[in-house]
Amino acid sequence: MYLGLDLGTSGLRALLVDDGGVPVASEAEAYEAQHPRAGWSEQDPGAWTAALDKAMGRLKAAHGPALAAVRGIGVSGHMHGATLLDAEGAVLRPCILWNDTRSFEEAATLDGTEGVRALSGNIVFPGFTAPKLLWVKAHEPETFAKIAKVLLPAAYMNHHLTGEYFADMSDSAGTAWLDVGKRAWSGALLQAGAMSETQMPRLVEGSEAGATLRNDLAAAWGMSRDVIVVGGAGDNAAAACGVGAMGERQGFVSLGTSGVLLTGRDGYAPLPASAVHTFCHAVPGQWYQMGVILAATDSLNWLARVTGSKPAELSRELGDAIAGPERLRFLPYLSGERTPHNDSHIRGAFLNLGVESDRKAMTQAVMEGVSFALRDCAEAIGQTGADLGGLLAIGGGAASRFWVETIATVLNLPLDLPKAGDFGAALGAARLAMVGAGAGSVDEIMTRPNVAGTIEPRADLAAAYEDAYQAYRASYPALKTLP
Ligand code: XUL
Repeated sequence: MYLGLDLGTSGLRALLVDDGGVPVASEAEAYEAQHPRAGWSEQDPGAWTAALDKAMGRLKAAHGPALAAVRGIGVSGHMHGATLLDAEGAVLRPCILWNDTRSFEEAATLDGTEGVRALSGNIVFPGFTAPKLLWVKAHEPETFAKIAKVLLPAAYMNHHLTGEYFADMSDSAGTAWLDVGKRAWSGALLQAGAMSETQMPRLVEGSEAGATLRNDLAAAWGMSRDVIVVGGAGDNAAAACGVGAMGERQGFVSLGTSGVLLTGRDGYAPLPASAVHTFCHAVPGQWYQMGVILAATDSLNWLARVTGSKPAELSRELGDAIAGPERLRFLPYLSGERTPHNDSHIRGAFLNLGVESDRKAMTQAVMEGVSFALRDCAEAIGQTGADLGGLLAIGGGAASRFWVETIATVLNLPLDLPKAGDFGAALGAARLAMVGAGAGSVDEIMTRPNVAGTIEPRADLAAAYEDAYQAYRASYPALKTLP
């Protein structure tokens, strides 16, 4: 048995898988993020460990013998968050999350610092960790002076589980302190961010054992003292492990709150100017690249809110099959955009509204706008030399066949739908524990899910959607010039 923990933005999932990697039990516990000021997004790490206690308590009650047979634990975490600890290991302030934009000025300064993009392989986005620490230095100097360790959420959980400080490469790649090509902390990047290597956790590969479970936790949960905790992963790398997206032409489109187009890479091919994220994968010798859009299902959720409806109801009104693009156009920049614009100030828009524009047309325009934004990501990833293919459609939005067919047609790529059960990052984390405990090789463990069906691009509508995409593409520069 193996345990995968998915420390998400809105809750924690604990997934128990058997020796063949098949899920046998899962418990989830929700928590919230605090937004004390506009643009701020924070979480108390105590909420993560409290959620873990509850989920593990329920797992023990219902699946005690299975828990006792666990050999390894892997943790997936939401990326980029800054958890600050003092010399005694006490948390100094709430964790500043990936979707917190307070440090946009520090991000721009770091991003413009010579050598930073070249070493980190990425734009320094406002959500990344390094600019957050420069913000703390400027605005909370007494806290900054006490920082003995900075941990990403998954590394904080590793520390909670083992008492040791270690982090995996995939998550650490999102700090802007890592030399992503060398898979090592960069002295120059740490210096640019006013940090030192002593404040960093030890680096391990995601599938490598970092330490063993604390005795008191092992006793409380009825687990063995020899349980290993592997490096784990950032949530996108973990999700990729969960669906076997490890190398070239293996990837996914994820329609979650944010949208991700991700492909595995066998080598390191950064292209920061494209606003593509180039991160280490969670297994040795592999990297991945992804385009991130900030409002995917969030755009549909927004429309549901303002129309007094539910996302599923809006989806239902469209049916299953596409019939050509809407004239109504939606730009999904509700929270600014990462790929390809790297623009935290831009906001969304509807264009071409007419008296005939009804709720159904708006839903279609929203799904198309998100699909076009994902096409922008595909174009950007293509510039790095990656050949996109073998894509799965995952995440809550993939329940809409209409949406998936729109994306397939706009990308001109078939999209596979996984069969039952989207265990996502929790399964990836459990699989990392399996590799770490010697249950098999990466190739043996990180397999693709069975496919329920393939949604093909609609050749008959390709030209119409291409024209609509080109019109969408022309909209951002125009919108940008408006006061
Ligand atoms: C990736 C990113 C998000 C978070 C939240 O760069 O910011 O995907 O990991 O889940």
